[in-house]
Amino acid sequence: MPPEQLLESKQAEKLEVKGYFETTGFERWNRIYSESADVNRVQRNIRIGHQKTVDNVLAWLQEQGGLESRNFCDAGCGVGSLTLPLAQLGAGSIAASDLSAAMVQEAQRRASELGVKPGQISFLASDLESLEGRYNTVICLDVFIHYPQAPAEEMVRHLASMAERHLIVSFAPYTPLLALLKSIGQLFPGPSKATRAYTLREAGIVAAAAEVGFKPMRRSLNQAPFYFSRLIAFERV
Ligand SMILES: C[S@@+](CC[C@H](N)C(=O)[O-])C[C@H]1O[C@@H](n2cnc3c(N)ncnc32)[C@H](O)[C@@H]1O
Repeated sequence: MPPEQLLESKQAEKLEVKGYFETTGFERWNRIYSESADVNRVQRNIRIGHQKTVDNVLAWLQEQGGLESRNFCDAGCGVGSLTLPLAQLGAGSIAASDLSAAMVQEAQRRASELGVKPGQISFLASDLESLEGRYNTVICLDVFIHYPQAPAEEMVRHLASMAERHLIVSFAPYTPLLALLKSIGQLFPGPSKATRAYTLREAGIVAAAAEVGFKPMRRSLNQAPFYFSRLIAFERV
């Protein structure tokens, strides 16, 4: 595909994702990422799997320590599932942003409901590609699922360029079994089909991070029925 056409199709894809997370996607994911009983079996399992990913990240960050003197960037923060507990653990400052203004607004609402210290979190409605700045730790969870391999790798390079020490990302890894399940519609079933879901080759993600000086230090696989997410913590070498 010629470069201009490639750029256009990337922008179109991002606009589609944004439209979804401002409307039906917001409604759906706001319920999944809550304690609402109004979820079906698939959504309940996604909630369980996603919580494992969040818990893993929080545990790793606590093991690294020094949370209060570190600044964090949570790119594609959603409704704050990671940002809010991280703030409650005493993180120095967190820049939480998301492509969807609706998701950011909800994260902000939840933060004030929890009584998070004013100024500890700065919220921004922005795509992660436009983010700037330097952070001790950059985190991006379950966002790449909306993008094919090449744009996801570009995102990894950009996020890593903002990270002074740590980069933590999660994505649905490509495996032959997942590819089969996806092809027969058993993965990401139901309304989540409103956006395309992509599985990514881990080697490509690791190579993209390596290009900008990061190497994987820890990895885990968080699973529940209908949820499958590879989590990798990179460090600058
Ligand atoms: C499945 S949710 C995950 C939210 C959050 N990271 C979490 O784990 O709770 C995916 C989020 O990615 C956001 N998103 C999608 N593409 C994005 C982009 N290019 N830049 C920033 N956020 C994006 C969506 O708006 C949505 O809130």
